[in-house]
Amino acid sequence: TVIVVDYGSDDAQLLARRIREAKVYSEVHSYTTGADAILAAQPAALVIAVRSTATEDLPVIDQRLLNAGIPVLATGGGFVAVTKALGATVAASPLHHFGTVQVTNIDDNAVLFSGQDAVQDVATNHAHHVVDAPEGFVVTASHDTMPVAAAENPETKIYGTAWNLASEDSSNGLAVIKNFLFIAADLAPDWSVEQVIEQQVAAIRKQIGNKRAIIGLSGGVDSAVAAALVQRAVGDQLTAVYVNHGLMRKNESAEIQQAFGDSNGARLIMIDAEDEFLAALDGVSDPEQKRKIIGDRFIRTFEQAEADIVAESANDPDATEVKFLVQGTIYPDVIESGDADGSKVIKSHHNVGGLPEDLEFELVEPLRQLFKDEVREVGTKLGLPDEIVWRQPFPGPGLGIRIVGAINRQRLDLLREADAIVREELTANGLDREIWQSPVVLLADVRSVGVSDGGRTYGHPIVLRPVHSEDAMTASFARIPYDLLDRISQRITSEVEGVNRVVLDITGKPPGTIEWE
Ligand code: XMP
Repeated sequence: TVIVVDYGSDDAQLLARRIREAKVYSEVHSYTTGADAILAAQPAALVIAVRSTATEDLPVIDQRLLNAGIPVLATGGGFVAVTKALGATVAASPLHHFGTVQVTNIDDNAVLFSGQDAVQDVATNHAHHVVDAPEGFVVTASHDTMPVAAAENPETKIYGTAWNLASEDSSNGLAVIKNFLFIAADLAPDWSVEQVIEQQVAAIRKQIGNKRAIIGLSGGVDSAVAAALVQRAVGDQLTAVYVNHGLMRKNESAEIQQAFGDSNGARLIMIDAEDEFLAALDGVSDPEQKRKIIGDRFIRTFEQAEADIVAESANDPDATEVKFLVQGTIYPDVIESGDADGSKVIKSHHNVGGLPEDLEFELVEPLRQLFKDEVREVGTKLGLPDEIVWRQPFPGPGLGIRIVGAINRQRLDLLREADAIVREELTANGLDREIWQSPVVLLADVRSVGVSDGGRTYGHPIVLRPVHSEDAMTASFARIPYDLLDRISQRITSEVEGVNRVVLDITGKPPGTIEWE
């Protein structure tokens, strides 16, 4: 394992992903874990990730991490902090330099740059720069804004670049990381998603034994892949529960049925709660109230289903106990919650079904170590269809928060049609995987005048909201080719009854959110 030691940086996760792209297993550990615990995990190499901003002081890197004889890679702010810890002179940069620069004197005798061009574009973000390298280091690149732009000490196995290796704007970032892994640290590229599947299947079998487990399928990628993995491990000991709240997109329920239906090993319970949800939402147009109604009802419905399953097994002397709850937690969730250790028992607050209040499930979280792109790869390897594996993030309240105005069946059907056209066209043009999310919104409370077949129309507008994003915290509108927009617009206005106008949302986030409600 290569441990990325995170001193509050922005790119620790991205570094771990890059290392895994090079087929070496990597984890992010916060520096707060302490050097002893990090070294006790016996990492094959360390990467130091540090935030370098004008407003924050450089963290002090624990010397024990640098003196353990383990190969260390320091990049960006990490390079400044590590060299400083080893005695380098470090100065505040006159300008907080942020952007791509060209370094022209990269030394290909250096371990990190072996076999590479002398000229490379590199992404920088520095509030500090290294003036003099520490003793024993060879300077392997320099630049006006970074006198010591890269340096290494093969003796103590410490290597670094002042630029950011994880950024896609560093032309050779991954190649430098590979030189570190394969030359400096002498590692082999032998980590793969197949291995993860094999290990997880064995671990799940061991954990669940002959007991039963349940999972709630939300329609999202993570829960679907987690279900497929557990199904692969324990077959019909898994019961998957899927609640159709009537706010799903076109074909979504059918795709779930197909992927997890009886023929595929797990037991699938589809709950059709459309009528109840729509009745509860009748006449409600306030977004927060909609969310609350949908969220509450969803939990109640799901809990009732859980309770039924548990009760059924309790009443049947031959049935085994339902003891496990499978969740699609993925690695970024784990890192963000700071909960690196895997054992957790949650209380399921059953207030329905007459079950004891303190019913406890043990959690099964087979995707805890995987990034999103790896989760998708696992899904594909397990035979899930692209429609599920490459599904865009979709909000829990579904189309309910994509109708501005009150929700009813007819409006939902109309939006489902428009949404299906957009998805179809984006997929046909190879853009669906590139675009983070492309909400389609119905302005049910707005009408405008149009003309069709020589007659006046008075219909609703549909808003297209395609965005690019890394993590949904910020977003920019996706630049869809005009011809494609034209085609989408023509199809929606001619195929969807009641829509006579299509508009494009060109707002970034901030100030706009991704969803309209
Ligand atoms: P916004 O609209 O706040 O959305 O920019 C950020 C991301 O979160 C999703 N989203 C939700 N997901 N329940 C969810 O599970 C919700 O109530 C909800 N609201 C927004 C949204 O689709 C986007 O990916």
